[in-house]
Amino acid sequence: MTDTPQSQGLSRRGRALVDSPSMPTYLLEHFVRSAEPYDAASSPHGYIPFCVAENSLVWDLIEPKVTAARAIEPRVLGYDDMVGPLHFREALATFMSKWVLGRPVRAEQLAVLAGAGSILETLFYTLADAGEGVLVPTPSYAGFWMDLEGRDGLSIVEVPGRSDAQFRIGPAELDAAVATAEVPVRALLFTSPNNPLGTVYGPEELEAILAWAEARQIHVVFDEVYALSVFGEQAFTSAATLREELGDYVHIVWAFSKDFAASGLRCGVLVSDNAGVHAGVSSLSYWSCCSGDTLALLKDWITDEAWLDTYVQGMRSRLGEAHRTVTAHLAAHDVACVPSEAAFFVLVDLRAHLDEPTWQAEEDLWRWLLDEANLNLTPGVALRSEHPGLFRLCFASVPPATLQVGMNRLTAALTSYASR
Ligand SMILES: Cc1ncc(COP(=O)(O)O)c(C=O)c1O
Repeated sequence: MTDTPQSQGLSRRGRALVDSPSMPTYLLEHFVRSAEPYDAASSPHGYIPFCVAENSLVWDLIEPKVTAARAIEPRVLGYDDMVGPLHFREALATFMSKWVLGRPVRAEQLAVLAGAGSILETLFYTLADAGEGVLVPTPSYAGFWMDLEGRDGLSIVEVPGRSDAQFRIGPAELDAAVATAEVPVRALLFTSPNNPLGTVYGPEELEAILAWAEARQIHVVFDEVYALSVFGEQAFTSAATLREELGDYVHIVWAFSKDFAASGLRCGVLVSDNAGVHAGVSSLSYWSCCSGDTLALLKDWITDEAWLDTYVQGMRSRLGEAHRTVTAHLAAHDVACVPSEAAFFVLVDLRAHLDEPTWQAEEDLWRWLLDEANLNLTPGVALRSEHPGLFRLCFASVPPATLQVGMNRLTAALTSYASR
């Protein structure tokens, strides 16, 4: 570890944070370019971000709930149970049972912290020791590396999906990853609906994954943060429906960030039957609890059944429409993608557009799209893709008219790249 002016005087842990790789380039570019966004009238060449997992299609559905005057109890300003006051978790249990988990859960099975990321970081702190391994199917949500490897010191063991199987993984892929793992594997982190693939695993596939983990007595954490954001044929199945009791080894993570387009409110939920896990998470909750005022706001959303019906229906239909815009445009221009039916993404297969099958060539194409089209896609390297050339396109992060402009720019820039 070398001392830089920035790291002088810090602890070894602090210096490691300073030394660790900074934010990926595509995100640094995103924060800079966001200052000049696309606007048809005032900034027609402005920036279009296809790289951030946010849903900007539903603000009008949520705005009345956010801006309506609401009664505030004085207790929201005070200290309370740091994993969520019981009255909130009771309301949350009723909501989660019906809308997310597909079977009853009790308030005591739930813990609330500041976002799914906080839940994952804190949960894994209680499940595995530094140096131990966690299986993560790839391509994957890039943030898991920060959540698990950052402060918890765990080692992610990648489970690569095969492109000819549309990157779906099952017991064979898990076995292969364990066989070559260089660290003892303590857990599996499994995401459905999936980021970045937008795929939904059905009951039989989930059963095979769960049975595989049970046979090895390893923890399995199901990340279900896109549970409601499904718009295709395959209905969402929660891992909660597979067993009468979750038992000590199965844990589920959900959040308001994606399904309620509220990543800035920072509210994530852990579902677990494991009393030890709850005790551990509760001990750490003071440092990442969700604000009382936010919980009061969210309680209003999840207890309004009439609004929930309208919201979820509207949200799904808008995601479906945006997805159709993207896939129809790609098909019309002979650009391949992995079929998706949930979440906010299409994984666009630009391998045929690379100069050669290398990470450098992927970066060159990413840079071309950014410079020529002012368009930012998440490059496969950030998703730990096995093959260079797969880009995640988030179709929910901009309004429909901007999405169409972005798609026109994308295919025009691919054409100019080929003939440069
Ligand atoms: C699969 C998945 N899990 C967790 C998170 C983190 O969510 P939060 O903003 O609630 O921390 C994300 C955010 O993109 C995600 O896509």
